[in-house]
Amino acid sequence: MKLNEIAIVGLGYIGLPTAALIASKGLDVVGLEINEDICKIVNAGDIHIVEPGLADMVKQVVASKRLRATTVVEQADVFVIAVPTPHKANYSPDLSYIRAACESIAGVLKKGDLIILESTSPVTTTDTMSAWLASIRKDLSFPIEGQYEGEIDVNIAYCPERVLPGNVLEELVKNDRSIGGVTPACAEAARSFYQLFVEGDCVTTTARTAEMVKLVENASRDVNIAFANELSLISGHFSIDVRELISLANRHPRVNILQPGAGVGGHCIAVDPWFLVSSAPSLTKMIRTAREVNDSKPEWVVVQLEKKLSSYLLANPSKNMNAVRIAFFGMAFKPNIDDLRNSPAIEVIKLFREKHPNIKLELIEPNVTDLSGVALPCGEDHDVSELYQLTSLEEGLSADIGVILVAHDEFKNEPALNAHQFINVVW
Ligand SMILES: NC(=O)c1ccc[n+]([C@@H]2O[C@H](COP(=O)([O-])OP(=O)(O)OC[C@H]3O[C@@H](n4cnc5c(N)ncnc54)[C@H](O)[C@@H]3O)[C@@H](O)[C@H]2O)c1
Repeated sequence: MKLNEIAIVGLGYIGLPTAALIASKGLDVVGLEINEDICKIVNAGDIHIVEPGLADMVKQVVASKRLRATTVVEQADVFVIAVPTPHKANYSPDLSYIRAACESIAGVLKKGDLIILESTSPVTTTDTMSAWLASIRKDLSFPIEGQYEGEIDVNIAYCPERVLPGNVLEELVKNDRSIGGVTPACAEAARSFYQLFVEGDCVTTTARTAEMVKLVENASRDVNIAFANELSLISGHFSIDVRELISLANRHPRVNILQPGAGVGGHCIAVDPWFLVSSAPSLTKMIRTAREVNDSKPEWVVVQLEKKLSSYLLANPSKNMNAVRIAFFGMAFKPNIDDLRNSPAIEVIKLFREKHPNIKLELIEPNVTDLSGVALPCGEDHDVSELYQLTSLEEGLSADIGVILVAHDEFKNEPALNAHQFINVVW
C-alpha cells in the first residue's frame, strides 16, 4: 500500500489532531475541509479548536509543509473521514455528511486506495458507504460484506475514535484501536496504516463489529449512569442519602456503581445510543430506557428546586416569589470544561424558566465568560440579561437558594456550598 499522501476529510475536533499527528510522523497530509475559514486558519499554522498541545504541533507541521488544508478534493492514497454524524429530530442518524464526503472523494479514487471511516456511525454504515462509492465509480471494484473472493480495487474500513477531549494528542497514540474491515484484507490494510502512529494495540475485526463497539462503549456508560440516576430518585423517595448509599454498596467487592448527576450531556454519550435504538428498536429496550431515564433527570432536579423554593417562601412569608435569588452552579455538560453542548444543566435552567418566567436566575459557570452565544429562553418581552445574570461564585453563595449542577473543581473546593440552602445533585 502506498502512503505518499494521506487525506483527512473534515478538520474538526477529531480530524485536525489526527492530521497534525500523522504529519508530525513525517507523512504528507492534506486536510479536505468544506469550511474555507478553517482551511485559512490551518494554512496559517493556527487552530480553530481548543486542545492542549495542538497549536504547537499544527504550527510545526504546517511550517515544515507536511500539512496543508484545502476545500478542493485531490488524490491521496489513504482517506480518513471524520465528518459529523448528528441525529435528526426523531433520533434517527443523519448520514448526509458521510454521504457528501463520499461523493466528494469518489471522483479522485484510484486502484490501491484505502478509505477509513472514523465518524461515529450506525452499524452497516461502512457497507453502505462502499455501495455509494460503487454506484458512482463503476470502473473500480469495492468490497462487499461477506464476499471475500476476487481482487478489490479500493479497501474500505471503519475505525472509531475514543479520545478524551483535553487529552487527544496522547490518546490518539496510546489508545487501543478496533479496526473493522468490510473484508479481512481491508482490515489488514487499515491496520498497517494505524500502526504508523498508534502505540496501543490495533485489533482487527469486521466493520460492523467495530461500528457497534463504539456505540456500545457509549451506551454502556449511559446505562450505568442511568442506574445511578434512578437510584437518586428512589433514595429521594425514601429520604436516603444516595451518596452514602452508593459508597456503602460499592464496598461489595463486585459492585461498582457510578455517581448520579443532573442528567447526561455532550455530543457522544447522549447521542450515540440512539443509533442503536433507531436501528433495532424492538431489541434495545434497556438502552432506550437508560436514555429516557437520563433525559428525564433535569425534570426531577427542577422538582427538587421547586420544593426548596416552597419551603423558603413558607419560612419567609413576606418575600415576593419573583424576588427570591436563585443560583444555578454550573452550565457545562461535565466538570471542568466550557462545552455546553446538550448540557443537562442548561436543560434544568430552561425547564425552570418555562415554569417560572419572571424570576431572574443567577448562573455561575467559571468556564464561560459571556452568555451571548447560549440559547436560553426569554419569551417575547425580555432579553437574556433581564432574566439571567452570569455571576461570580462569591455572589452566588449569597443567593437565597441554589442548586449545584456540575461538579467543577471550583465548586467542590468551596465549603460554603454545603450550606442548607443549596441542593447538590452531583456529588
Ligand atoms: N469530538 C469528539 O470528542 C469525538 C470523539 C469520538 C468520536 N467523535 C466522532 O467523530 C466525528 C467527527 O466529530 P468532530 O467532533 O471532529 O466534529 P466537528 O464538527 O468538530 O468536525 C467535523 C468537520 O468536518 C467538516 N465537514 C463536514 N462535511 C464535510 C465534507 N463533506 N467534506 C469535508 N469536510 C467536511 C466540518 O466543516 C467540520 O470542520 C463525529 O462522528 C463524532 O461523533 C468525536
